[in-house]
Amino acid sequence: MKIAIIPGDGIGKEVVREGVRVLEALRDKRKLPLELWHLDLGADRYLKDGTTFPKEIAAQIQNECAAVLLGALGDPRVPGLEHARDILFGLRFGLDLYCNIRPVVCLHDRLMPLKNKTAKDCDFVVFRENTEGIYVGMGGQFKRGTPDEIAINEDVNTRKGVERVIRAAFEYAKTNKKTRVHMADKSNAMKHAHELWYRCFFEVAKDYPGIEAHHVYVDAMCLYMITDPSQFQVVVTCNLFGDIVTDLGAALQGGLGMAGSANVQPGRVSMFEPVHGSAPPLAGKDVANPLATVLTIGMMMTHLGFPDEEARLTDIVRRAIDTRNCTRDVGGELGTKAVGDWVLSQL
Ligand code: NAD
Ligand code: IPM
Ligand code: MN
Repeated sequence: MKIAIIPGDGIGKEVVREGVRVLEALRDKRKLPLELWHLDLGADRYLKDGTTFPKEIAAQIQNECAAVLLGALGDPRVPGLEHARDILFGLRFGLDLYCNIRPVVCLHDRLMPLKNKTAKDCDFVVFRENTEGIYVGMGGQFKRGTPDEIAINEDVNTRKGVERVIRAAFEYAKTNKKTRVHMADKSNAMKHAHELWYRCFFEVAKDYPGIEAHHVYVDAMCLYMITDPSQFQVVVTCNLFGDIVTDLGAALQGGLGMAGSANVQPGRVSMFEPVHGSAPPLAGKDVANPLATVLTIGMMMTHLGFPDEEARLTDIVRRAIDTRNCTRDVGGELGTKAVGDWVLSQL
């Protein structure tokens, strides 16, 4: 199983360095059939020779790889983020990875920021639509730089795109014995696009009679995530709202250093990345938390057919928090590399 490795920019490089050591340990010590393919893509490469995401690499990933591990993209030297969009959206859109699966699971009571709540109160998963919405880049600017300028981004929602991610959320609920799926939208304000989401959600729900289907407006959902996150089990939402609510969710997990994610289309090569970005102020300081990447590799292992390895990695992450073998953002005093060393010692 060939795994493409794209560290990317900023702390992406540092957390993926530790992630690669974890993958090597899984390969060498646990004898998993993994082959690592290191790709030099990101801001450094773009600034050197203009390369963002070559078509041949995209094709090779699609044809030869079992998965991709991505760190993060975004560099202050490329303010337009053109390389980041080419690579990130090249993978998400190019491979048609329509489910961005983002667990919002708090692994330790010490990380729970809410008063009178414990870790068990926060355990749900967000299915973020990952191939359309406001992210498609359709639109334009007119009379730019004049007092009359106009800027438009189109929000694209197709029946096919909406239905398949909603169905994936229900399938996940069914497979994982969850009893409830929420769909978060703004159908009160976005009466065309999100009326489609609303209608489609309840139509698909009819195929899952054992599972409660709840509609929630996304603004109210943000409130409920803070007042009582335990009501959520599986949440499905559009691309933009999924991006936003999962950063809020990360705060319930102990911060962005604790949130992993998978970009999948069943039966396709999938892409795995921590939810966080390149955090330029932290870059190069050995302070970034690599545990989100360890959890992300766990998700990759389950996807590749090794769920025991995910259980093992999640347990190691939980114990890293418990024994304070972790970085400062989660109450420890170790650096990025030292956390990686500890994770390896446990593997
Ligand atoms: P960010 O996720 O990089 O950082 C947000 C906050 O979380 C910062 O305070 C940062 O210090 C903290 N943080 C993030 N990851 C951490 C970690 N592993 N350990 C400890 N603290 C961590 O978001 P941002 O600052 O809004 O964006 C920075 C750049 O990253 C931008 O260019 C943005 O576009 C990009 N970005 C890329 C991705 C991706 O590649 N998937 C995701 C999000 C943001
Ligand atoms: C994420 C990021 C990206 C997104 C940015 C970098 C375009 O925030 O992966 O969560 O919005 O999807
Ligand atoms: Mn984001």
